[in-house]
Amino acid sequence: MTSFWSWYITLLTSATLIALTWLIFATRRGQRQESTEETVGHAFDGIEEYDNPLPKWWFMLFVATLIFAVGYLIMYPGMGKWRGMFPGYTEVAEGKPFANGEPGWTGVHQWEKEMDKADHEYGPIFAKYAAMPIEEVAKDPQALKMGGRMFASYCSVCHGSDAKGSYGFPNLTDNDWRWGGDTATIKTTIMGGRHGIMPAWGEVIGDQGVSDVAAFLRVTLHGRDLPKDTKADPEAGKAIFAANCVACHGPEGKGTPAMGAPNLTHPNAFIYGSSYAQLQQTIRYGRQGTMPAQENILGNDKVHLLAAYVFSLSQKPAAEAEAK
Ligand code: HEC
Ligand code: HEC
Repeated sequence: MTSFWSWYITLLTSATLIALTWLIFATRRGQRQESTEETVGHAFDGIEEYDNPLPKWWFMLFVATLIFAVGYLIMYPGMGKWRGMFPGYTEVAEGKPFANGEPGWTGVHQWEKEMDKADHEYGPIFAKYAAMPIEEVAKDPQALKMGGRMFASYCSVCHGSDAKGSYGFPNLTDNDWRWGGDTATIKTTIMGGRHGIMPAWGEVIGDQGVSDVAAFLRVTLHGRDLPKDTKADPEAGKAIFAANCVACHGPEGKGTPAMGAPNLTHPNAFIYGSSYAQLQQTIRYGRQGTMPAQENILGNDKVHLLAAYVFSLSQKPAAEAEAK
């Protein structure tokens, strides 16, 4: 903050406080305690105003807020460059200074202090689980409870609170995986994030080609019908698929986890929808699903626990049936 703005804020704030103090005392006329029948002398549409003193409690409350404001501005930063007298959190339990090492209260210091306290309390618990194989952590009720709570805070915005996903976000409770469902792969996915790249095919295979290959998926792979009067040929689509799609989705369309290319034979696992219209949309314009990397946000130990939690979701007996 430049000196100009520092003085600007300081003067404006002080002037406001002084003006308010003056106002409250200047308008507190006399020492009259009783209500009177006297009016202030003006009338609006025949309505007049009694000239009575402010209620005492109201007056005291106003004075109290003024005193509070002055106290607050002395203790906490608020007046330009003034840092406040409140002791700063310059040291943590181990004696390391915080990032900016300066005295005075700030929200960042407060947050760092609380995070540090939490790390001290829970760090050893996370570390204990981080040293165990994910399969075992996934059987520990306390670990799953902690994992579930973290999932709710960091993952449910996209994957849903039940982890069943929604449009554009995969279901993590079934046995269908875009990148792989073994413990190591799940952890890699969460640590480093993922970026699925489905190219746009509209320009390459043309409108008819898009319709044909969508018809191939819908009719041949999923065994469903096309809307009435559709001019699309699943057989021609099959040839287009063999020429353009198998490189990523595999010869039978069952996907290639190394590229995050999904299994196209499971209509229920399509995150962008498997209706004829949605299929064409996906194929014509492509898709780019992004799973954000968590390594720098949560760190290894927390991700380890989350991986165990996610792994446990797909191990329930019902998961097998749901993927079908
Ligand atoms: C370069 C590799 C690659 C090629 C080639 C490719 N795809 Fe894809 N496809 C992907 C990836 C990766 C995804 C996942 C995109 C995402 O998650 O956002 C995907 C997603 C899809 C989806 C959406 C699945 C869902 O979950 O809703 C459909 C449908 C699809 N591809 C069809 C095709 C068809 C048809 C072709 C050939 C014309 C094709 N793909 C060629 C990589 C490829
Ligand atoms: C901003 C939205 C977003 C958030 C937040 C998010 N994810 Fe994802 N996640 C995605 C998307 C999109 C994909 C699919 C990527 C693709 O298209 O291949 C994905 C994929 C995954 C996969 C791979 C699924 C598969 O089929 O292979 C796992 C595992 C996963 N997420 C776990 C998590 C966990 C655990 C968290 C919480 C730390 C999380 N995600 C937070 C959007 C998100």
